[in-house]
Amino acid sequence: MDLFNVYPINPINIVRAKGSSVWDAAGTEYLDLYGGHAVISIGHSHPHYVEALTAQLNKIGFYSNSVEIPLQKQLAHKLGEMSGKDDYALFLCNSGAEANENALKLASFHNGRKKIIAFTNSFHGRTSLAVATTDNPAIVAPVNQTENVVFLPFNDEEALTGAFQNFGDEIAAVIIEGIQGVGGIREASIAFLRLIRSLCDQYGTVFIADAVQCGYGRTGDFYSQDYAGVDADIYSMAKGMGNGFPIGAISISPKFKASFGMLGTTFGGNHLACAAAIAVLNVIKEEDLLTNTQSVGDYLLTELKKFDRVKEVRGRGLMIGIVLPEELVSVKRDLLVKNRIFTGEAKPNIIRILPALNITRDIADTFLTALDERLKAV
Ligand SMILES: Cc1ncc(COP(=O)(O)O)c(C=O)c1O
Repeated sequence: MDLFNVYPINPINIVRAKGSSVWDAAGTEYLDLYGGHAVISIGHSHPHYVEALTAQLNKIGFYSNSVEIPLQKQLAHKLGEMSGKDDYALFLCNSGAEANENALKLASFHNGRKKIIAFTNSFHGRTSLAVATTDNPAIVAPVNQTENVVFLPFNDEEALTGAFQNFGDEIAAVIIEGIQGVGGIREASIAFLRLIRSLCDQYGTVFIADAVQCGYGRTGDFYSQDYAGVDADIYSMAKGMGNGFPIGAISISPKFKASFGMLGTTFGGNHLACAAAIAVLNVIKEEDLLTNTQSVGDYLLTELKKFDRVKEVRGRGLMIGIVLPEELVSVKRDLLVKNRIFTGEAKPNIIRILPALNITRDIADTFLTALDERLKAV
């Protein structure tokens, strides 16, 4: 059997990893500023994480949601405390798409409505509702197409207000990334997030903050939407949550009532996934990674803005987009091939930096020096 060929891959076989370094089968070291796509939040093979998962696996890895799993309550308690949302409730699942799928369903169950507002350049995942709210026709199958989703221009207050004036009492939810990742590291403005909050309150609509990529400390706030000073009704999260162990979740405001069978999953919230997520939160707290994210992130943003050949630098914390002119699109590939540095991309000319939240200034400097070299070489 062959693999279903859907990923344009780099011909590199990573066999070992530690902190922000990874090694291929030939022993060549690479610097990982991509974090396996914003997933590696506390660094590869963090000792506390390895120990917690190993110990858990030696006890029990999985049992279904038909029994008590105290680790779920421990995780909910810690997450409530660290995200500042003690009174919210936790539903655990396995991925970002699944988290958004459940958030959108829950909104519709809650107010009995069908319409969803999403925004241009959004990415919310590949399951049916998540992909229907994703602004990329190339990945929306005919069966996923629905008139229930209305796309509005990102950060356009007038368009949003107009939509609510026209059909506000039909809108189940508004879903928005605090910083659009796939869409090119574009930040929702504070005024826009506040407007969403007030319109949702006025019309009984659910505010869903997709924090799958921009959440879990990536911007220095627990959820990137926090900087607007408003609470969403549901936060979806996944990527950094398990440092590579598949886990997703939604954090649900107390206004929602749960009932048996309303949401569910076989694997979500299993022992091993909870142990991974708890270990990640422990490390974020004990190593004060939100502060580190903010300070190394600020440093990178400041230094990157000094490069003449960089068109624009966007983002917050350790979610950074470096916009290059068309003639420099080869820089990302050169960083990998010549300097052995993994970065991400959003559109061919935007380099995305999504490293572990514990990267040091030295690592940031290594990257800045390499980028300088590459920019001068083209
Ligand atoms: C903002 C956002 N939402 C949802 C998803 C989907 O997550 P997953 O790939 O875990 O389904 C992603 C993945 O890139 C994302 O960036």
